[in-house]
Amino acid sequence: MSGEAVNLAELERLAAERLEPGPHGYYAGGAGDERTLRRNVEAYAEWELWPRVLVDVSELDTGVELLGARLELPVLVAPVAFQKLAHPEGEVAMARAAEAAGTVMCLSTIATCGPTEVGGSCGGRKWMQLYCFRDRAITRALLDEAVAAGFEAVLLTVDASYAGKRERDFRTGFEVPAEVTAPAVKQASGGRDLTVQEVFALVDPSLGWEDLAELAEASELPILVKGLVRADDAELAVEHGAAGVVVSNHGGRQLDNAPATIDALPEVADAVAGRIPVLVDGGIRRGTDVAVALALGADAVLAGRPCLWGLAADGQAGAERALAILREELRLALALLGCPSLAALDSSHVRRRRP
Ligand code: FNR
Ligand code: LAC
Repeated sequence: MSGEAVNLAELERLAAERLEPGPHGYYAGGAGDERTLRRNVEAYAEWELWPRVLVDVSELDTGVELLGARLELPVLVAPVAFQKLAHPEGEVAMARAAEAAGTVMCLSTIATCGPTEVGGSCGGRKWMQLYCFRDRAITRALLDEAVAAGFEAVLLTVDASYAGKRERDFRTGFEVPAEVTAPAVKQASGGRDLTVQEVFALVDPSLGWEDLAELAEASELPILVKGLVRADDAELAVEHGAAGVVVSNHGGRQLDNAPATIDALPEVADAVAGRIPVLVDGGIRRGTDVAVALALGADAVLAGRPCLWGLAADGQAGAERALAILREELRLALALLGCPSLAALDSSHVRRRRP
């Protein structure tokens, strides 16, 4: 069924038909007036792709090297909380879709299937997203579990010290149903199920750069900082031991009026200057968007809602479809740009549109 979706917008419509208003608003929504949510998507239209011609593109490779291993696709599955709201198989189905696409599954701290379950049901590559809880023992236990389950890296999310003002959730009265539980959160709350707002109250809002340095020092796994948009913060991340950064505004769900991530990417990539990988997420809806991000200096991107729409529309098959659509569109974009591989894509292929 999801196989009939020609593009991600069609998959989004299929998902919208299937989801109740509460979960749909939680997934689709952003903070405040949702300006950043919209800008993340719209800003891609402001970057033009400038193709080269008469280049041999009979062989095309969408693979990329990231943290010492090869991905078949430079699109990772972004960490998204509460995936059993989308489909009963939740994060396990999503992880299997990522594995089928040859890419990385990022598992949320607020996942409805924990790292042990996901690790045990899927042999693909996995990274753990971390919210640093006030109770550091819970955070350490979650990290230990992820290491034991074969996760290869940690995404430390730093743009959500408090929950953004998500007005769709107020209007629908959205609450996570009692049967949908997040194991790590349940542990942190002493066995109680919590609302989204209550979950954020567990996150330590005092977290600072020294905490990153300590985490990086103590961690067996590389720690990437997810959720910055500024060059000075990127510099600090490098100085405090980050193994990578993700330019992100949490899909427009946190600070409204934050810049579109694709507009923030060039300064961050400049500041980092190749010392560590730079990733970006937010608003990627086409293979051509992936090409723009890579041409502007990203090593890879993450997709959140597109994968979620696939999962909601048709479980694992739907999430696979979302990733396949992006892969096919990216392959074609590379071919038509005159780039046989991602390595051939550079800043000469992208320019900001003249007003
Ligand atoms: C998220 N995101 C997120 N990020 C994170 O670090 N931990 C989390 O638990 C979640 N949860 C979450 C839930 C939902 C419903 C959404 C839509 C997003 C943010 C996510 O990782 C990513 O940054 C954005 O989704 C990227 O934007 P797009 O691809 O959705 O436009
Ligand atoms: C969200 C969380 C849980 O964006 O990160 O809803």
